[in-house]
Amino acid sequence: MKTALITGSAARIGAEIVKTLHSNNFKVIIHCNQSQVKAQMLKDELNSLRENSAQIIIGDLNNIEAINSINEEVTSLDLLVNNASVFYPNSVESSSIDDWDNILNINLRAPFFLSQGLSKKLAKNSGSIINIIDIHADRPLKKHAIYNISKAGLKMLTQTLAKELAPKVRVNGVSPGSILWPQENAQLSDAEKSSMLGKIVLKRQGSPKDIADAVLFLAMANYITGQIINVDGGRTLNQ
Ligand SMILES: NC(=O)c1ccc[n+]([C@@H]2O[C@H](COP(=O)([O-])OP(=O)(O)OC[C@H]3O[C@@H](n4cnc5c(N)ncnc54)[C@H](OP(=O)(O)O)[C@@H]3O)[C@@H](O)[C@H]2O)c1
Repeated sequence: MKTALITGSAARIGAEIVKTLHSNNFKVIIHCNQSQVKAQMLKDELNSLRENSAQIIIGDLNNIEAINSINEEVTSLDLLVNNASVFYPNSVESSSIDDWDNILNINLRAPFFLSQGLSKKLAKNSGSIINIIDIHADRPLKKHAIYNISKAGLKMLTQTLAKELAPKVRVNGVSPGSILWPQENAQLSDAEKSSMLGKIVLKRQGSPKDIADAVLFLAMANYITGQIINVDGGRTLNQ
């Protein structure tokens, strides 16, 4: 049975990736930081379906020591999904050095050092890495400067790792369009939401399952590396 580590996977898109991989016979390692209660519930649900098929790893991805601990704690791995991220408005005028460090550390530094730390274990199993990027890696979302930069970096990291870790480890990306509206401090106005929806060719938001299915496809696609799939309902056609 293959093992997958999915970062930031107690809720929302990450949890759907966990469930989809689990129902396709993966053992799953649910990583979380603050959402520990939700992670426990998800783990219990999956272990009740199949014994010892889900475990939890806790760690703040803003902290390099926590990343090193995760890398040590994982003994064998077939798939790393870098899904955890932070998203909140950060215009060029208002952004602080703390915003820069926080967003870049979680969205870009963590995927780099998790990939570095786990690459030998992945190579041993001819495994793969899938980074969850964003269609705004290519064209910027207004007032989200540091977020855009972090995701553009993650796209280049995907392509760089695909070269560097070949031939043993494949590295790909999934770039979601609009899937779930952001929470709390990143909420969008009704006008911003309808402007986003108006640009989607398929005229609706995607679902977490759409992202999870693309992850599953790439996890199984043994001759694909260095590719990024936009799962955006055609939104990039109108960007
Ligand atoms: N939602 C969309 O429509 C959309 C669109 C484009 C791209 N994406 C990308 O798709 C992925 C999933 O999206 P989402 O909306 O489901 O994400 P999300 O809910 O905003 O965040 C996912 C998880 O990231 C974790 N995280 C944040 N800071 C962390 C930290 N310091 N240490 C460890 N974990 C941390 C959180 O875990 P805890 O709660 O456990 O702290 C959170 O549950 C992200 O990479 C996002 O950029 C999403």
